[in-house]
Amino acid sequence: MKALIAEKVKKTYKSRKRKTEALKGVDIEVEKGEIFGILGPNGAGKTTFIKICSTLLNKTEGTVKVLGYDLEKDEKEIRKRIGYIGQDSERSTYARLTGKENLEFFATLYNVHKEDFLVRLEEFKKTYDNDEIFDKEVMKLSGGQKQAIVVMRGFLHNPDLVFADEISKGLDPIAAKKIRNFVKNYAKGKGKTIIMTSQIMSEIEELCDRVAIIFEGKVVAIDTPQNLMDDLNMQLIELRLRTGEIASPEFLQKLIDLETVSAIEQENGFIKLPVTDSAEAFERIMKICKDFDLNPVISYRTATLEDVFLKFCDKKVELEV
Ligand SMILES: Nc1ncnc2c1ncn2[C@@H]1O[C@H](COP(=O)(O)OP(=O)(O)O)[C@@H](O)[C@H]1O
Ligand SMILES: [Mg+2]
Repeated sequence: MKALIAEKVKKTYKSRKRKTEALKGVDIEVEKGEIFGILGPNGAGKTTFIKICSTLLNKTEGTVKVLGYDLEKDEKEIRKRIGYIGQDSERSTYARLTGKENLEFFATLYNVHKEDFLVRLEEFKKTYDNDEIFDKEVMKLSGGQKQAIVVMRGFLHNPDLVFADEISKGLDPIAAKKIRNFVKNYAKGKGKTIIMTSQIMSEIEELCDRVAIIFEGKVVAIDTPQNLMDDLNMQLIELRLRTGEIASPEFLQKLIDLETVSAIEQENGFIKLPVTDSAEAFERIMKICKDFDLNPVISYRTATLEDVFLKFCDKKVELEV
């Protein structure tokens, strides 16, 4: 059984003044046990999609099945089995209650047995390794500490599927790593499904089995992070000039004249050269640098998930150049 089947999902927000087509026909299927990432720039429609699938927002068109249940007919069944971690953490907790009291309150709301709650709380404490966030009133916690409580809230009732929107928002790198480990153990240890968004590419790359890239309300790519990166077929040589060194037009022309160099891009003292044959390019580039009396730091890399993101989501910029 699939954890999620979304077909031709459309959403139009209407106000008196304007209509916004936030989703223009989104098809996404997620397998049970997968950690699935949704990537896209601000305003792409990620939150809209997640809210629709979590029963928090009505779609305009299309069909959605969550854990085998139809969104339209079985909303209650779906709600029992999913967790939702919203992007807006301020409104997800009670400021005057402690972290633990907040979790206790929501556990009661979800009908979690006391014993189960205590087991869960121990799990969270072990993950987070800092009791402060559980014992202090939430209003006295930092943004990131609050977010940790909000994340834990989403897992309280042992849901089969967790929707996590901007899960690591505001978390410092150490807390973010703890949460990532928790998510990984939850999905892989218990066979549960996670559908998440994040603006942190390395996080998506580390966690997600597959990702969908949404751009302007449409899915523009869907695959494993590795396949998406391989598909770019990118080899990049970067030159970083040393202080005082200047790339003359003649120097740049020599680089672009090389057969293995397919383009050239200059940015803050970096010269980026996509190449087809890195070994040959390396040698020739070194020689040109020597001829021009330049001694830049030369590095080589293949595509990252950020390159994939830019390829699909930065089209307008490209057209303007
Ligand atoms: N409640 C709303 N009313 C009107 N427009 C909205 C509302 N929520 C979101 N939008 C619009 O829908 C589009 C998608 O937003 P959203 O789903 O929040 O994107 P993302 O989460 O990818 O940043 C944006 O253009 C946004 O301005
Ligand atoms: Mg969002």
